[in-house]
Amino acid sequence: MKNHDIQHLSKIDSISFRNDLISWFEKEQRDLPWRKDQDPYKVWVSEIMLQQTRVETVIPYFNRFIDWFPTLEEFAEADEERILKAWEGLGYYSRVRNLHSAVKEVQETYNGVVPDTPAEISKLKGVGPYTAGAILSIAYGKAEPAVDGNVMRVLSRILLIKEDIAKPKTRKIFEDAIRELIDPAKPSFFNQALMELGALICTPGVPACLLCPVREHCFAFQEGVQAELPVKNQTRKSRDVQLVAAIITNEKDEFLIHKRAAKGLLANLWEFPNFEIHTQLLPKRSFFQEQFEADFGVKPSVGEFIAKIDHVFSHLVWNVDTFSGKLAPLIDKDVMESSKLRWVSEKEMEDYAFPVSHQKMFAAYKSGTKRLL
Ligand code: ADE
Repeated sequence: MKNHDIQHLSKIDSISFRNDLISWFEKEQRDLPWRKDQDPYKVWVSEIMLQQTRVETVIPYFNRFIDWFPTLEEFAEADEERILKAWEGLGYYSRVRNLHSAVKEVQETYNGVVPDTPAEISKLKGVGPYTAGAILSIAYGKAEPAVDGNVMRVLSRILLIKEDIAKPKTRKIFEDAIRELIDPAKPSFFNQALMELGALICTPGVPACLLCPVREHCFAFQEGVQAELPVKNQTRKSRDVQLVAAIITNEKDEFLIHKRAAKGLLANLWEFPNFEIHTQLLPKRSFFQEQFEADFGVKPSVGEFIAKIDHVFSHLVWNVDTFSGKLAPLIDKDVMESSKLRWVSEKEMEDYAFPVSHQKMFAAYKSGTKRLL
């Protein structure tokens, strides 16, 4: 699809559209920590955090991240355990791993200065077209589009674009439209204003058109179809995974934790021992004991049921039956090492990054033990 296929684009008075949009943004924009300066490193961190995560959730994470790693150089030198801890709870951990590789590359290849051209910046790990456009426009004032799901929702309404935004190739249509509409004098505000409009007014479902600064330019509003846009066909089905886990303590009241594999879901995060249930023939407690013994050579006792924890990922759902457990015999030292197991006190556990699901399991365990006391 080419420009001329976006029927309504040529009918927009782009000068007046920009002015209405940007003057609204200048008045109404939220005071967000990453808007305090245009440091490309901070813009980059915020944009990676904001992918898939809401602004309110991101704010405390962003502040702590910048507190721990105030400069690109300090982040480049940080170790992996620490960067995972900084990201703990945000999900999609490959985002921070890619960010770390990319920042190291900037440090080594570009003398610590984030590149300011589309060609160079797009080569960095984890920097897709959206992030590239966001950094180039917000930090460097370049007239580049930054199109994410929110921007597609806003523009699909303004320009009455009915393409399926779930299809990867649709983003290009929106990028072409932005290249026409963007204010060459204020690309940073233009892009941020579209994001802000999507967050505050042009929300999913039924948008707040009566408050909208660009309502007069909006073709969906004119036709009364704003609630039907964007078109987004979901076809992917997520898979249910049944797991059994145990929070196991020893005689010193330490907890047994395990480091996940270096590849795949939640790579290198720490967790409580758990196994995917692939048979219904055994009770869950016995299944856990058998698997544990097969992997680590000793048999724990499995105690009370603590909670069923459900956690939704983009492509699968975990249902975790969580028990308490005790282990008296020692696990062989070499097995501890090669299986990446550790005994840690509750205090020490704070230094390890856990997935949210395992944090929930531990919280349920704590409230259960409190009840018993
Ligand atoms: N969503 C994505 N990027 C954003 C930004 N810079 N400010 C607010 N919300 C956003």
